[in-house]
Amino acid sequence: MPGRFLVMEGIDGSGKSSQVERLHHWLPRSRLMPAGAKLLVTREPGGTPLGEQLRPILFNRQLTVHSRAELLLFAADRAQHVEDCIRPALNAGHWVVSDRFSGSTVAYQGYGRGCDLELIHTLEQMATGGLTPDLTLWLDLPPQRARTRKPPTHQDRFEGAGLEFMQRVADGFQQLAVERDWWRIPAGQPCAAVEAAIQDAIRRTFTV
Ligand code: TYD
Repeated sequence: MPGRFLVMEGIDGSGKSSQVERLHHWLPRSRLMPAGAKLLVTREPGGTPLGEQLRPILFNRQLTVHSRAELLLFAADRAQHVEDCIRPALNAGHWVVSDRFSGSTVAYQGYGRGCDLELIHTLEQMATGGLTPDLTLWLDLPPQRARTRKPPTHQDRFEGAGLEFMQRVADGFQQLAVERDWWRIPAGQPCAAVEAAIQDAIRRTFTV
């Protein structure tokens, strides 16, 4: 039986990465995964040696990167990630949790940067080969609340792009959540409550 593919999405500062860490601990102990299935936790950009090399390029504030070039770099990262990492794990019956996937490209490069949405959808098909998550958890937090506490000198190109940019990205996630039937997790609650809501969503989705 093929494995399951779960994705966590949300704007910068929505608490995504720490919830992914909690999932890493909880999911293998949840009794939801069949015997013998392992959990692979991964991320985009990254998740493969190529992807990890692309990260510093994508985040470097000193580099001028045209929005279409940025779009193609994220697509390249994803194509490698799907072929090298996600699909083989699913085919072997393992479960995969990815911190971000193709929804982030629609939200950031599409809604945020204004790249053509049709073009993004074509690229998404190419990069994913048609692979879609079994469940996408969307951590919903207004950008004013998510505003990163990192000093400006330590922010990457996305964190430093300003509140209006992040509002467009947040609007994109909201639109996607409706179109793609994502599970909305209110992320303004205490960490433990967010974690409980995530576990509940996963149980409801995968309990047979
Ligand atoms: P993330 O890994 O969540 O940041 P951090 O490691 O700082 O917690 O995401 C990296 C950044 O990349 C984030 O600002 C969103 C951006 N991004 C896109 O713009 N498009 C994409 O397709 C992906 C996957 C990420």
